[in-house]
Amino acid sequence: MEVTINILVGTMTGTAQLCAQEMELALDDGDTRVATLLMDNLDSTVFSRDGVFLICTSTYGQGDVPDNARALYEDLKAKRPDLSHVRYGVFGLGDRTYAETFNFGGKRFDELLAELGAQRIGERHMHDASSGVLPEETALEWCQDWLGRVRERLSQPA
Ligand SMILES: Cc1cc2nc3c(=O)[nH]c(=O)nc-3n(C[C@H](O)[C@H](O)[C@H](O)COP(=O)(O)O)c2cc1C
Repeated sequence: MEVTINILVGTMTGTAQLCAQEMELALDDGDTRVATLLMDNLDSTVFSRDGVFLICTSTYGQGDVPDNARALYEDLKAKRPDLSHVRYGVFGLGDRTYAETFNFGGKRFDELLAELGAQRIGERHMHDASSGVLPEETALEWCQDWLGRVRERLSQPA
């Protein structure tokens, strides 16, 4: 079964983008097509694309989405489109030093997409920069497991 994955990247200093590139390299093959899009200049219409979505975003400020993700996040909040056709996963980046707002970037997207009717596949990943583990390494293992769950879900009747 051919699967298309759209990775939407929210990043301030490029770490989430690096993770997305690693995941694209790992997942993209004959059966899985991957499109990686920086969230810059995206709006809620991006969710009319075919395929499953992977939100790959860091957290900034006081638990905010990164600057390049703000327009997409605010557009979803304002327009509140019906996203019941959307299936998605979340690879979040953060730092536990920010205890009160750890990984809130991914959490905010997750909660908003769920409110709009989209269905998450798999658990939300929460990378912790203070752990010393490189997120691009975790990303490889996580995305293989996630793709397995995506394929399982898509093979079930709707
Ligand atoms: C100014 C600043 C604010 C941050 N705020 C948070 C936060 O509130 N919560 C969190 O979990 N991580 C926070 N982080 C950590 C980043 O999300 C983390 O370092 C991430 O890996 C950066 O990824 P990026 O390069 O893709 O933006 C913050 C980092 C900086 C520099």
